[in-house]
Amino acid sequence: MRLDRVLANAGLGSRSEIRKLIRSGQVKLDQQVITDAGYQVHDPAAAKLMIRGQPVETRQHLYIMFNKPAGLITAMEDKKDNTIADRLPRMFLDKKVAPVGRLDRDTTGLLILTNDGTLSHRLASPRWSVGKVYDVTIHDNGVLFSEKDINLFAAGIQLSDDFTCKPARLEVLGKNRALLEIHEGKFHQVKRMMQKTGREVAALHRVRIGPLFLDPDLNAGDYRHLSQQEVDSLYHAVRLTDSEQIQNTDQF
Ligand code: URA
Repeated sequence: MRLDRVLANAGLGSRSEIRKLIRSGQVKLDQQVITDAGYQVHDPAAAKLMIRGQPVETRQHLYIMFNKPAGLITAMEDKKDNTIADRLPRMFLDKKVAPVGRLDRDTTGLLILTNDGTLSHRLASPRWSVGKVYDVTIHDNGVLFSEKDINLFAAGIQLSDDFTCKPARLEVLGKNRALLEIHEGKFHQVKRMMQKTGREVAALHRVRIGPLFLDPDLNAGDYRHLSQQEVDSLYHAVRLTDSEQIQNTDQF
């Protein structure tokens, strides 16, 4: 994408103002002064741009991976409880970044946050069937995991008279521990699936959403921006094309 377009998309001025700024040598891309407004920026999401020595945020849409710690509710604001926003920069709130789906207060692990409404909606909607994988630890006092459970969960657990889960994939890691992949996001869904099968969850940690794994280098409570490749993989998982992504971010 052209440099002037990248900067205009970020709301940093009119096209003519931006061109003037570039020509006057005040814009740096990856430490290099660029004076050509038509200079091609190959990966706008990863570009390190500076204007008059100050870093600028060029992305209209933000895509964040957050390793949620226990004890926070999945909301950006709350009158009485501590929220995930307490661990994130204020700028995310200003840019209307919101979590994709929810994790319970005591659930830890992968949360995606974005202000890209189309992507967020599709990742959360059962219609697009994006897998969410949980590392589930259960208490000793109930039914323990065995290989027989694989078929039980694959058949679809009935949670209520009018709701049966889509087939879920169980991988038994031990008698108290399994990975469970589900394709919806009903309230307390994993805990209720465990309860229905005679178990009580002791700990729940989300490790994957569709193609995106929780980064093992991200400590609990930390966040990072997704790479362009990771965003593309999420787009692909919900059958959005790259061109739709460009349309979303492109103002001209
Ligand atoms: N299922 C649950 O029961 N809790 C979560 O936080 C996520 C999925």
